[in-house]
Amino acid sequence: MPQGRQCQSDERSPVEIRKLTTDELHAAAAILAHGMRDNPLHVRVFGDEPDRRRQRLLRFLFHLVRYAHSNGEVLGAYVHGVLIGVLGMIQPGRCRPTLSGRLRIGLALLTSIRPAVLLRVHRWLAAWERNDPREPHWHIGPLAVLPAYRRHGIGRRLMMHCCQRMDALSASAWLETDLEINATFYRSVGFVVIKQELVLEVPNWFMSRPPMCVTSRSLGRGDDLTI
Ligand SMILES: CC(C)(COP(=O)(O)OP(=O)(O)OC[C@H]1O[C@@H](n2cnc3c(N)ncnc32)[C@H](O)[C@@H]1OP(=O)(O)O)[C@@H](O)C(=O)NCCC(=O)NCCS
Repeated sequence: MPQGRQCQSDERSPVEIRKLTTDELHAAAAILAHGMRDNPLHVRVFGDEPDRRRQRLLRFLFHLVRYAHSNGEVLGAYVHGVLIGVLGMIQPGRCRPTLSGRLRIGLALLTSIRPAVLLRVHRWLAAWERNDPREPHWHIGPLAVLPAYRRHGIGRRLMMHCCQRMDALSASAWLETDLEINATFYRSVGFVVIKQELVLEVPNWFMSRPPMCVTSRSLGRGDDLTI
């Protein structure tokens, strides 16, 4: 079994979930950029033109995935050995890069992304950061499954893997999403909406999951704290 392989391939499904190695981070960013290209916040931040938006997102997400890999875990979902889904998890206290880390990433992005776009990235991330809980938490995301593989339980497998890890650590988890349908999906694995807020005029849901939550599909719908 290759190094870093964790689980889980069974006879019912060819899907395998395992931690990504450093060599796979470019591929992971490409899956995420493809899968998240049309999310409303990304359209707002990276522009209307789909291919240019995907390219900008790819550059940004590569830094994010590398950060998640060094400060937590990046899980991959594989079908017959081909990467088709990715989930990042960042450990408590490391949600955001340090100031020097941000400057380094900002300067690297400036060579390929216009300053006006980077300014929107900054406003977006500052709005998310303002909502980060003070209590220790794992920060979950980014998450995407390639469009051709959606609605087959792969996103759920990635999230269940993550939630089982949170439960084993008795840890809280936190995430943001810009689609109500995703909030429904996250509720089904035990997250609740803590807050809803416009970020760059796009509705965002801020969601939390307490430690040792029961991960069942019966959980959730309608038990948000506020909305
Ligand atoms: C969110 C995402 C990762 C889910 O992956 P998936 O493999 O399709 O997820 P599953 O098949 O395990 O579960 C799908 C659930 O997601 C929700 N969902 C997400 N998008 C949906 C859509 N377009 N239509 C209907 N349900 C959707 C539903 O709750 C659905 O549950 P159901 O199939 O029981 O009705 C995938 O839709 C995706 O990549 N979306 C684009 C990127 C994105 O928004 N990422 C999350 C950012 S916070």
